[in-house]
Amino acid sequence: MKKGLFIICILTASLIKAEDGYDLWLRYKPVENKLLLQSYRSFLKDISVSGNSATIQIIRNELLKASRGMLAQIPVFNATGNKGLIIGNNKKEKKNVAFGQEGFAINSATLAGKPVINIEANTDIGLLYGVFHLIRLIQTEQPISALNMISQPKLKLRLLNHWDNLNRTVERGYAGFSIWNWHTLPGYIDKRYIDYARTNASIGINGTVLTNVNANAVILTGPYLEKVKALADVFRPYGIKVYLTARFSAPIEIGRLRSADPLNDSVQNWWKEKIKEIYSVIPDFGGFLVKANSEGQPGPQDYKRNHADGANMLADAVAPFGGIVMWRAFVYNPESNDRFKQAYEEFKPLDGKFRNNVLVQVKNGPIDFQPREPYSPLFGAMHHTPLMMEFQLTQEYLGQGTHLVYEAPLFKEVLNADTYSKGEGSTVAKVVDGSLDNFSLNGMAGVSNIGNDINWCGHPFAQANWYTLGRLSWDHHLTSEQISEEWIKQTFSKDKKTIGVIKNIMLHSHEALVNYMTPIGLTHIMYNGHHYGPMPWGNTLNRPDWNPVYYHKADSFGIGFDRTAKGTNALVQYAVEVQNQFNDINKCPDEYLLWFHHASWEHKMHSGRTLWHELCYKYNTGVDSVRSFIDQWNSIENKIDAERFRQVQQLLNIQLKDAIWWRNACLLYFQTYSKKPIPSTYEQPDKPLEYYKSIRILYAPGN
Ligand code: GCU
Repeated sequence: MKKGLFIICILTASLIKAEDGYDLWLRYKPVENKLLLQSYRSFLKDISVSGNSATIQIIRNELLKASRGMLAQIPVFNATGNKGLIIGNNKKEKKNVAFGQEGFAINSATLAGKPVINIEANTDIGLLYGVFHLIRLIQTEQPISALNMISQPKLKLRLLNHWDNLNRTVERGYAGFSIWNWHTLPGYIDKRYIDYARTNASIGINGTVLTNVNANAVILTGPYLEKVKALADVFRPYGIKVYLTARFSAPIEIGRLRSADPLNDSVQNWWKEKIKEIYSVIPDFGGFLVKANSEGQPGPQDYKRNHADGANMLADAVAPFGGIVMWRAFVYNPESNDRFKQAYEEFKPLDGKFRNNVLVQVKNGPIDFQPREPYSPLFGAMHHTPLMMEFQLTQEYLGQGTHLVYEAPLFKEVLNADTYSKGEGSTVAKVVDGSLDNFSLNGMAGVSNIGNDINWCGHPFAQANWYTLGRLSWDHHLTSEQISEEWIKQTFSKDKKTIGVIKNIMLHSHEALVNYMTPIGLTHIMYNGHHYGPMPWGNTLNRPDWNPVYYHKADSFGIGFDRTAKGTNALVQYAVEVQNQFNDINKCPDEYLLWFHHASWEHKMHSGRTLWHELCYKYNTGVDSVRSFIDQWNSIENKIDAERFRQVQQLLNIQLKDAIWWRNACLLYFQTYSKKPIPSTYEQPDKPLEYYKSIRILYAPGN
């Protein structure tokens, strides 16, 4: 083929290739800055990579892909010429403590008068992380000629939690079916499994819980363990361990025992044997995640035992193999007068009673992944037990796969919160990374938002939340802004204006959602069951703590849940300094007011407006924000590929309709108590409350 024709063919091919989002942040688009391109090319032309493990092969392939895509150059590996990049040459017998098991160093040096980059680590996985870091620098067009850095993950366990069922439905999944095709495993290895592992490795995620916390014991049977093994084999060279959820009643359901009592010898032996079997199939199996005595799941309390009894039984059985148990603290039952308090009440007395290979996994807030929650008081209360953070990437209460919500600001708000539990500066981040109480076992999990949709996460921007989990669990000091900027450059564009626009939308998206859904500390006023759309009037379920009215307590006096000493006194679960921030209704930050106070409609907010007026203001601000996101997004139409531009545009339009629906439904409903008009400066609802009450969504996804 003639050269000119060849170039035209390549150009046309790249123009017609649909941007379907499958490549996530690993798109490897051509570097635009000419000077940097030259420098990257010279470093990546001749590469030395020592070793021959599967991980090293992955490193080679990745560098090949990255060079081809970004530099239009095919690197030469291990030739005799002058090297530009040396990977692992300095792996010494003696480990460098500064790198740990997974860390790496990237240093610039000169070799035979030529500049060279060295990537060093104690393990091949560390090298892989180092290579992905270098690739990220190139993707985001940073200079690489004077690097001198060491990077080690701040957290040991950086995990995705899939809530995937064996029939391929995904609990609270909004991106299609489960990516695990249990039916064709172990025989068929879908390319997605490899791409999943590679993508996770690119952001340092090192473990995955494959199955739903509402567990099915069948996953622990022989044939399924073979399927799990097939996945573990794919993931291993990418540094990813496999974990499973353990159904507490498995000894009865698949073991034919009469009991699952953790203090019963036969039960203990059953688990020991089962775990031996698992490790014989998957020698580096990570361990278990357990939801027990919560929302109908079986657990040790069924036998009058406590969470520590249950966790320790499993912990003892996995300990000889180096396994761990992540025992969830998400528990509540209708007997208590305040769901907020229950995890603390059940777990605080057990502090120090867990084996040292157990982590208690705590959701970021005391209720359930609401748009905004104060941090769970457990984070300031358990100094003898490592606490693992559980964030939810899948947007169960955040507009699901439809709304654009960048979650980093939400996660950072929680991580930066000060528990004061060991004096000022005892942040949640320090509890989670183990530095406050000296735990080397520590971690963070994100409930996965991945499915088999072509772009993995449904909403193109939901990919950013997966990315955030990896980056934040590697280094929780990174800011929301840094993470978004990195992600945008790799995912959408390196154009300055475009980055600015997208970043602005992302950084304001969480607050916008809080404003149009649950401002001023309102919580859990979504539709029963599927949690999509507003239902503040909901009061029909026989469990009060599942009904929206339980959470907002609106009446003719005012609105909000009194958690001070006059109310349920949940506030005492926090350190005095934190109590002091929230206790006084006049000082409590507006964002948390209705979390802790039943405030009068006339209550004066910090803005000077009355509470009722502030509610109208916030709901309208939320709607206005979405309108402005649409305008901003439209302003970069010619900078974004048509496919993803249109997808986001259409979804933003749905989001606007939803925001208006939320605002109108909530204000009209709360108005039946406040008896006050919506100030005329705001858009007035165009339909009556009855209309909003009559809306039914019968088949929302994710149930
Ligand atoms: C929420 C969610 C459930 C999930 C539960 C959990 O309640 O709605 O679907 O099972 O959290 O975290 O266990």
